Amino acid sequence: MNKKELVSLVKNMTIDEKIGQLQQLTGNFYTDSEAEITGPLNESGLTTEMVANAGSVLGLSGAEELIGIQRDYLESSRLKIPLLFMADIIHGYRTIFPIPLGLASSWDPILMKETAEVAAKESALSGLHVTFSPMVDLVRDPRWGRVMESTGEDPLLNRQFAKAAVEGYQGEDLRNDLNRIAACVKHFAAYGAPEGGREYNTVDMSERMLRDMYLPSYKAAIDAGSKLVMTAFNTVDSIPATANKKLNRDILRDEFGFDGVLISDWAAIKEVIAHGVAGNDKEAAKLALEAGVDIEMMTFCYQHFLKDLLAEDLVSIDLVDEAVLRILELKEDLGLFENPYRGANAEAEERWVFSQEHQDVAERAAKESIVLLKNNQQALPISETEKLALIGPFVDNGEILGTWSWKGNPKETETIKTIFEQEPKKIEASYVPMADVNNLTKEELNGAINVAQKADKLVLLLGENFMMSGEASSRTNLQLPQAQLDLIAALAELNKPMILVLFNGRPLELTAIEPQFEAIIEAWFPGTKGAKALHDILFGKVNPSGRLTMSFPRNVGQVPIYYNHFNTGRPIDYDDLENKYVSKYLDVANTPLYPFGYGLSYSNCSYGTLASTKETYRMSEKIEINLDVTNNGNRAAKETVQLYTRDIVGQVVRPVKELKGYHKIDLAPNETKKISFTLDSNDLAYVHSDLTLTTDSGEFEIMVGPNSEEVQTILIHLTK
Ligand code: BGC
Repeated sequence: MNKKELVSLVKNMTIDEKIGQLQQLTGNFYTDSEAEITGPLNESGLTTEMVANAGSVLGLSGAEELIGIQRDYLESSRLKIPLLFMADIIHGYRTIFPIPLGLASSWDPILMKETAEVAAKESALSGLHVTFSPMVDLVRDPRWGRVMESTGEDPLLNRQFAKAAVEGYQGEDLRNDLNRIAACVKHFAAYGAPEGGREYNTVDMSERMLRDMYLPSYKAAIDAGSKLVMTAFNTVDSIPATANKKLNRDILRDEFGFDGVLISDWAAIKEVIAHGVAGNDKEAAKLALEAGVDIEMMTFCYQHFLKDLLAEDLVSIDLVDEAVLRILELKEDLGLFENPYRGANAEAEERWVFSQEHQDVAERAAKESIVLLKNNQQALPISETEKLALIGPFVDNGEILGTWSWKGNPKETETIKTIFEQEPKKIEASYVPMADVNNLTKEELNGAINVAQKADKLVLLLGENFMMSGEASSRTNLQLPQAQLDLIAALAELNKPMILVLFNGRPLELTAIEPQFEAIIEAWFPGTKGAKALHDILFGKVNPSGRLTMSFPRNVGQVPIYYNHFNTGRPIDYDDLENKYVSKYLDVANTPLYPFGYGLSYSNCSYGTLASTKETYRMSEKIEINLDVTNNGNRAAKETVQLYTRDIVGQVVRPVKELKGYHKIDLAPNETKKISFTLDSNDLAYVHSDLTLTTDSGEFEIMVGPNSEEVQTILIHLTK
């Protein structure tokens, strides 16, 4: 259908049919035979006609089931407008990839795109049309459990990963490529900055900061063609995002040119009452519609009150019509009017979902995501002759998928123990699993000490369980649970070399336990093939290459801690630590334990002298920066060479460092590569106090190194 036909379809719709399109319901309205009598229907106050008119469904999948639901729906629908099926496919459908914070540690947007392609294919064949992904919220506070869903604290990486994910989900021809689904970028906007890291809490920042650091990643997803945007739960400038007209109409639509569907987050329209900007559901509906929200997810303010608001002339039918039209356009863009079942195909679903091909991508992704944080005296890799004791809650545990892995099945996920036991060459290892991350039984402790006494090396597989990060999982204590700290303390007394492998969804506070370990590996929640990837890294079949995209604090009191911070008027002087009246803590350094960009490998790479082809550049010229990087080790390595800049005198204060480029390179043993970075003046632009994006002339520091702390610096001059 072309636009004209869609407009005339909207004209033919009754008010009830229009309002139906704006309603999203959960799957149990369709699958639960009890629903009508006691369940959600009753609680929601929806009539069967209202359910029959609803335009989209959330959280169902499976080709056969969705084909059946669509068929029944269309049979009883007057205008035969197909249903949209949406779900949270965050880092894989059934083949689960590392959590997004892990995937980001790969510093490889192409890999992100490949994982999104696989997720799209599995989802599409299972009947889905839309995923609520990517989440591109910039994060600086690991107390917030949803940092696991983000790609970290840097705007450049966030933009690149946002674009890559959208391209991977949607492909180049969404309508005809039945292996793709539509993306929904979220949560608009600034959901990643809740005060105190407490979930759903207030967000408050200047518009300049919002535009400079936070909005670019949503914009990148929109520029890449994301078909939907989801509102955020939080306030933006003291107005809930879901009722925020300036945010959703002026910025999102007028300025960013977004013409797709804006969906509320779960219940976020009704929640504007609790926020305190609407007195009741009716006022909430009015605010959200005026703010440009097209679909209401799982509350019923539109459903119950739009008709009254229209009858009383409190909202214009034009607003309803434009929202309906956008939803119909999305259905048309997905080709649903022509083929309402789209990719749903039970046979292809059986063939491709969790296929070997997809698991291979998951294995590659896990290998690229794991970060080596410490490796004293080359404690890693482990040699196959060493006698090992593997101890902890993740020894024989398939729950390494992360919280947003709805279709991922821990029971079909290989565990560390199963992978070790599959090795053709038998490794001498004993296994002491702990049943619970929060509890260490006497038997478990005794068992651990017993096997540890006989081992050469202890590998402790510790961390958070998957429910400790993700939505509604804020924590103020970022250390490992006490039971695991007790285990570490008991085993440390044996004076055996200990290796720590961490499974978790956020940067943890490791300061107290770090000295006890010879080596530390951050595995995140590595997904379907995490155990295999980890095994290959432990034994050196794979040289670890992940780099952090979020700082690890020394203690929770430093949070928020992020590399791209301001200098302050009284910066700390590391040559004069006695000076009291500077910006510092009395009890801990200002720096993180592990900085942004950090990660080791089993090789040692060295950086040659940093040089710029010129000292002074005009704005119109390309800035050329060069250096040599050498792999001094005897293994092939991947090195991520990072370039940061600092605008020394800005119109407003600029961060002490901003990532402006990086090269992830392969280096053979003893190989040297010449690395070149080319920047132009747009790369140095930022949002000024008048909210324009411009570049200052003057001096800039150019810094290059293996992470955000260990950098070489040169100065360049930019003139008009
Ligand atoms: C989350 C969203 C998610 C939605 C639907 C909400 O609670 O904030 O990120 O997409 O639920 O499941």
